Amino acid sequence: MKRILVIHGPNLNLLGQRETEIYGKVTLVEINSELNKIAAAQGVSLEVIQSNHEGDIVDAIGHASDKNIDAILINPAAYTHTSVAIRDAVSAVKVPTVEVHLSNIYKREDFRQKSLIAPATYGQITGLGVDSYKLGLQALINLIKV
Ligand code: DQA
Repeated sequence: MKRILVIHGPNLNLLGQRETEIYGKVTLVEINSELNKIAAAQGVSLEVIQSNHEGDIVDAIGHASDKNIDAILINPAAYTHTSVAIRDAVSAVKVPTVEVHLSNIYKREDFRQKSLIAPATYGQITGLGVDSYKLGLQALINLIKV
């Protein structure tokens, strides 16, 4: 069975109550449940983590190959805009990675309009709410199942 690692970055544990005018009312539990439905229907297994700590995210990416992870779906949240370490981890493991964002980072503050991670990824989906995650997961499933 193919395995996909889903990584939710800092503050995404607060979805549902955090800046709902930007991120909506959907909770992380609901997002994970949608993703699990898509994966289960296509015979793919998901491992899901959320962390507020950059090093934990770097470790999870770094161990992806040892753990036979076939692809990574990541919302790096605020680390998108700051983390050379997460970008280097994505480049190092050579596991296809899709970066997703609920909000459209290109419509927001200047500091959010640059992703340090995106150049190391297979692709990025931004601004479609939960659909960013769902489409990103589907793209990875399509990629690894062929
Ligand atoms: C986010 C966008 C980031 O700029 C922000 O720091 C987040 C969430 C999004 O999903 O829209 O925490 O990644």
